[in-house]
Amino acid sequence: MIRSKESVEKTKYVKNMFGEISARYDLLNWIMTLGKHRKWREKAAVIACTGNDRQALSVLDVASGTGDFAFQISKHENVNHITAMDLSEEMLMIAKRKSENVKSSCDTDFVVCDVMHMPFPDDLFSVVTVGFGFRNFVDLECGLAEMIRVAEPGGKVVILEIVKPEGILMSKIFPVYFRRLTPLLGSLFAGNVEAYKYLPESVNNFVSSSQIKTMMEMVGLKNVSVERLAMGSVGIISGTKF
Ligand SMILES: C[S@@+](CC[C@H](N)C(=O)[O-])C[C@H]1O[C@@H](n2cnc3c(N)ncnc32)[C@H](O)[C@@H]1O
Repeated sequence: MIRSKESVEKTKYVKNMFGEISARYDLLNWIMTLGKHRKWREKAAVIACTGNDRQALSVLDVASGTGDFAFQISKHENVNHITAMDLSEEMLMIAKRKSENVKSSCDTDFVVCDVMHMPFPDDLFSVVTVGFGFRNFVDLECGLAEMIRVAEPGGKVVILEIVKPEGILMSKIFPVYFRRLTPLLGSLFAGNVEAYKYLPESVNNFVSSSQIKTMMEMVGLKNVSVERLAMGSVGIISGTKF
């Protein structure tokens, strides 16, 4: 795939930004979600690990960051191997360190790479997930297509994401929270206002659960379903590759 100069620059920016905030990412996650992210990950992990006939699942967690979603998935008994991949080496180094304290019998691999060019063959994984990483992709459709490429037929693709709420009230309140409070908290706790300005600024990728569902259906996933959490500001969207 030929990449534009703009997409190369944006990828570099995202990689550096997450590298810079990596040490404080977990703390910020707790503060910004008031600790709720744990429950959301638990729910998404159940969706990812159920409904597959295979006894032993091999899972790829894309944009795994500091690993919390991957670790939650690895606790499921039917998961025997998980690959955590991320663009940022710093984020994955923290994940690797944390993995030493995770109680799970599942093998874990850590791979530094870009979702747009994953070094995995087609149809390799029983499940492919991404938690709060999808909207950071430079090109949502290409990232999704690449996730589907490495999922085996019958395998699930699951996206857990902060989404644009679709209800009248939340669609008014949430952008204000996201635009104003996120950079403020970022400057207070991560010491990096720029990085947390980026989050609300990536409006182009700020899509609703319904838009992600449509995207998944357009690229050929079947049985696409949506679970809305946190008054519609968080979505778990999953589909099956045929
Ligand atoms: C908000 S964090 C989410 C981390 C983790 N999945 C979680 O649930 O907390 C977003 C992650 O996406 C990664 N990322 C962004 N663009 C990426 C890309 N093109 N390929 C791989 N990882 C990417 C970043 O490096 C960062 O670690």
